[in-house]
Amino acid sequence: MKTSDSKALMVEPRRQRTFRCRFLCMLFLLSAGFFIGSAFVVTDYKERFLSRGFNDAMQNTRSKTCETQCRPQGSESLPKGIVSKTSDLEMRSLWGPLDKKKSKSSMNLLAIAAGIKQKKSVNKIVKKFLSSDFVVMLFHYDGIVDDWRDLDWSDRAIHVSAVNQTKWWFAKRFLHPDIVSEYAYIFLWDEDLGIENFNVGRYLKIIKEEGLEISQPALDPNISEVHHHLTARDSRSKVHRKINKLIGGGRKCDANSTEPPCTGWVEMMAPVFSRASWHCAWHMIQNDLVHAWGLDFQLGYCAQGDRTKNIGIVDSEYIIHYGLPTLGGSVANKMLLRDLHQSIFMFFFCFLCRSQLLFTRNIIIGAA
Ligand SMILES: *[C@@H]1O[C@H](CO)[C@@H](O)[C@H](O)[C@H]1NC(C)=O
Ligand SMILES: *[C@@H]1O[C@H](CO)[C@@H](O)[C@H](O)[C@H]1NC(C)=O
Ligand SMILES: *[C@@H]1O[C@H](CO)[C@@H](O)[C@H](O)[C@H]1NC(C)=O
Repeated sequence: MKTSDSKALMVEPRRQRTFRCRFLCMLFLLSAGFFIGSAFVVTDYKERFLSRGFNDAMQNTRSKTCETQCRPQGSESLPKGIVSKTSDLEMRSLWGPLDKKKSKSSMNLLAIAAGIKQKKSVNKIVKKFLSSDFVVMLFHYDGIVDDWRDLDWSDRAIHVSAVNQTKWWFAKRFLHPDIVSEYAYIFLWDEDLGIENFNVGRYLKIIKEEGLEISQPALDPNISEVHHHLTARDSRSKVHRKINKLIGGGRKCDANSTEPPCTGWVEMMAPVFSRASWHCAWHMIQNDLVHAWGLDFQLGYCAQGDRTKNIGIVDSEYIIHYGLPTLGGSVANKMLLRDLHQSIFMFFFCFLCRSQLLFTRNIIIGAA
């Protein structure tokens, strides 16, 4: 027995041995990743993310098995014809004839986080969007609503107020995909933006033509606080999706780059989402996300395909980013640490995904 065993070991094919080594290495790397990851991060993130993968798989099979009969949960006992699964943010008049329904493709939404200190710039932004037939929603993070009443558009906007919450908190709670499914594009903007050189109609036309699922107007680099070269305006072009230059930290973006912040990426002060990409991005906003650090780098998952093609910066319609600390410095600083933890987790999670994919591929290759 013994001799045949050792013989078997001796004649073990090399490929199998390397495979076993690779397997062990991967196992080690994976567990090291997990250990470091969990040291940084509250464990419940981990569970949430892992169980999400499982849930998605479950949902996929479920949606396949009952594509025809499935009803929204809770509506099973209702006659089919009266189920209204989605909604919108249109205001309806109390009396008189029914409002004429606008065509779906022309409806768009601007949601903007607004404090009374930025009343002037918000007023300018909202006026521009209302004249382009947008539905406008204000997220009042300072709890002050009445002081906006003197503006003539105030009654046409939807006001939501919750003290000391960020744009992302509001967006997760009040822009559920089922509620905003009518809107072709969703502008989820900060308030400290200058829009003298921005035309809403032209912008919409460009992103439709270019097929941009996620986009932002370029930032005027002469006046704005610009953190990333990719989003700075290139005055020679209409739209850009890539940069070709050094970006600091000894890193260089070139024509072959496929990762943010070289390509396929927008900043979080003025993103514009298509219906489909928002449907995806909403699911990615964690309930305790504050400033969305780390979220921007993951948005590529929601690009509805190749992010280096479907995410872009519009140069011909551009804005100024004043970079005001609009939620109050002390709050921002405290929250920063928490978001940092989230981005570290996001990083590890994606690293793990990738190594798991590689790992499975190696097994398949090894087995073949
Ligand atoms: C909101 O934040 C401000 C500034 O940090 C603080 O003074 C205020 O007490 C906070 N309000 C609430 C209700 O938490
Ligand atoms: C910034 O200033 C330079 C020099 O004055 C000018 O050529 C360029 O067009 C300006 N950029 C923008 C985006 O306005
Ligand atoms: C990009 O990739 C091509 C093909 O692999 C290579 O020939 C070229 O030198 C690369 N360009 C840069 C700037 O690295």
